[in-house]
Amino acid sequence: MRLSVIGAGYVGLVSGACFAELGHSVLCIDNNPAKIDAIRSGQMPIYEPGLDALVARNVAAGRLTFATGIDAAISDSAAVFIAVGTPSRFDGRAELTFVHAAVEACAPFLKAGAVVVNKSTVPIGTGDRVEEILATVRPELAVSVASNPEFLREGAAISDFMEPDRIVVGVEDDNARAVAEAIYAPLTAKGAPLLFTRRRTSEMIKYAANSFLATKLGFINEIADLCEHVGADVAEVAVGIGLDSRIGRKFLNAGPGFGGSCFPKDALALLNTANDVGAQMPILERVIHANDLRKRNIGRKILKALGGSVRGATIGVLGLAFKPETDDMREAPSIDIVASLDYWGAAIRAYDPAAMEQAKPKLPASVVYCDDPYACAEGADAIAIVTEWNEFRTLDLARLKAVMRRPVIVDMRNVLSAAEVEAQGFQYDSVGRPGREA
Ligand code: NAI
Repeated sequence: MRLSVIGAGYVGLVSGACFAELGHSVLCIDNNPAKIDAIRSGQMPIYEPGLDALVARNVAAGRLTFATGIDAAISDSAAVFIAVGTPSRFDGRAELTFVHAAVEACAPFLKAGAVVVNKSTVPIGTGDRVEEILATVRPELAVSVASNPEFLREGAAISDFMEPDRIVVGVEDDNARAVAEAIYAPLTAKGAPLLFTRRRTSEMIKYAANSFLATKLGFINEIADLCEHVGADVAEVAVGIGLDSRIGRKFLNAGPGFGGSCFPKDALALLNTANDVGAQMPILERVIHANDLRKRNIGRKILKALGGSVRGATIGVLGLAFKPETDDMREAPSIDIVASLDYWGAAIRAYDPAAMEQAKPKLPASVVYCDDPYACAEGADAIAIVTEWNEFRTLDLARLKAVMRRPVIVDMRNVLSAAEVEAQGFQYDSVGRPGREA
């Protein structure tokens, strides 16, 4: 089938390349020419394992092409996927300008029977608005509007897309349903569940899923804080409750607060949707508030580890991205942590395997970026592990200690073993786990 994808970001580029891999002929459009130039020359604009090879393979096979403008080239597409950003507005609602602009730009070129599919995460009812825009620009045209939220996780995006837990499609007519069935046939043939709902329900499913996961993280973080007071170990609590199949082990890793491009903004957008219709979501409201506070306050762990002040101290920050295997810095906890340390008068050295370029505009100019963890630890009074990249699990502790001014590690992701670190002579603090003295 011929498909177009508008937006070649984390979701659009991965989806476009994966659709091509499934055998479709895909045109991926982004209005950022630098991004398209980079992709065409083989440089992926995002760090995503396996993406460069996937794109190269499908471009070479002639199934994947790129463009910078929406024009007649989309007119033979059976479906046009909208995968543009929907960031938080100043008031916490989702910014829909990019979605509306993309739909308006597509409308003149759509063929009869085409399906416009919202893959962006959009507030409930956005599909209706898209329908109105199309009816205004092309009143004569019979087109369908569907919702197909994306559940891929950055860092595992390709396997998530190719082996999804489920595919959700919200439709209001048989045409959209048939086109979606055909597009996803290669995946459903391999057993991927395809769930059809009404459009508004599908839009709600995406927000409910992300808000539930955010709540799960918020809950385990709260348990972690209590563990620190009562001398229990949150990592073992997570195992102990996670073995209950009603709870599940995933999303029970305590840490510095959830970030990323989705959970904070989607939880906030859902809360605002509730407020707009006069409904209450007190649980979600508390989750959002508690997470904001957590990200702002978690830096105090470092302050405490150094006796109440970091003025004049050097702190090595290991990990900046909001999670491993991505270069995405959106809403990353490192932003708040580094800002606090800077405000309190610390000098900051930082290392991240993928996100240092993306971090620069978001962190104070005084941050010194380093080539590896050991350079980052040079002269440091403490190391803070902020993102759980695998390479931090196997640090050479003796080498680290040899270059540091004071052997202090604050492990905000619980990646190290307290016993091992303390055996090397480090002062060690983690999240929700008792230290040697507890
Ligand atoms: P992104 O910011 O990485 O990519 C969006 C792209 O759209 C940008 O490259 C931008 O230049 C392009 N764009 C904007 N307006 C355009 C237009 N009129 N024509 C052509 N291109 C245009 O955003 P990302 O992260 O891919 O997110 C897209 C949507 O998917 C959002 O609604 C997000 O909430 C949702 N989502 C994101 C996930 C993620 O892990 N990043 C996962 C699941 C959903």
